[in-house]
Amino acid sequence: MSNFYEDWFALEGKAIEEKRRAKKAIYPNELQWIRTRQDFKAALLVAPETGFRTLGGLTMLSEIPEGWKTGKHSHGEEAMYILKGKGFSIIDEQRFDWEDGACLRIPFGAIHQHFNQGDTPVHYFSALAPHLEFSCLVAKFQQFEDCGEIDSTTNQPARINDYDKQGRRLVLNRKDATIVQRGEVDERVQDAFWESHPSEMHKGNHGKMIKMMGSYDDFVAEEVEITDVFVDGPKVAGQKHAHMEAMLYIIDGEGYTIIDEEKFPWSPGTALHIQGPQTVHQHFATGEVPSQMLRTHFGIRKYIQPIAQKTFPYLYLGEARPL
Ligand SMILES: [Fe+2]
Repeated sequence: MSNFYEDWFALEGKAIEEKRRAKKAIYPNELQWIRTRQDFKAALLVAPETGFRTLGGLTMLSEIPEGWKTGKHSHGEEAMYILKGKGFSIIDEQRFDWEDGACLRIPFGAIHQHFNQGDTPVHYFSALAPHLEFSCLVAKFQQFEDCGEIDSTTNQPARINDYDKQGRRLVLNRKDATIVQRGEVDERVQDAFWESHPSEMHKGNHGKMIKMMGSYDDFVAEEVEITDVFVDGPKVAGQKHAHMEAMLYIIDGEGYTIIDEEKFPWSPGTALHIQGPQTVHQHFATGEVPSQMLRTHFGIRKYIQPIAQKTFPYLYLGEARPL
């Protein structure tokens, strides 16, 4: 006889089936670019709306034309990475300057707006978790101004530095980022999340890791972090492993990833979803130039991985090797 308790036994199979049916990769020719109040042009990458079974997070792309600004709004926490262009953001009335390769943290509820100050369009990648916030009953989007051309009335406070008034780092330009080479022990091993990784994964599991958010005390977020740019190859098969949810976005290079025995080719602009908790995967950088992959994870993983590691361990299944 069915009852609530019996139904709980069916949840595991239901989750496995939802994961099996969901998308694992999305390609530039599949993106649905639209104009929103916030962005001149925006498209979802890995998101529930585009057919992925996420833990409530999503990744997306946006464009700010020359001479334009985004809308001004607030919502939950967001992480951003500038793919191209130059400009600044006003976050809770403080100005933060950036250029391509910069990573930004928008704290939960901060009122923010981005300005293109260069002579090319700005392209940015961002990650946020509105569906997770909805599950927690804290989803709250507020719009204060729509996107448009920058006019002379725009208040542009002077730049201070990369930290807000509370001493939190909100911007890290790529030239200031720490680089960890393969074989080096990662200094991040200092909290429950990183301690729940196998020891092999602490020693630079990529050719080079350009460290963004989550690694060091002065650039840590809670709900969403763009943690690294992974640089691999050319011509290398990465480590085979399995872990909880991560999202990847290819900045440069050619190759493919085997996710649960299925092959997904990639090139610049491809986004991948490693669902977890035990999704076996391996990246192959096959091109002539090193691949660059942007890695995003969500705070829900940092919460669940350490407490669930006995049942759903992080699996290390083999070393990287040249192709
Ligand atoms: Fe991975």
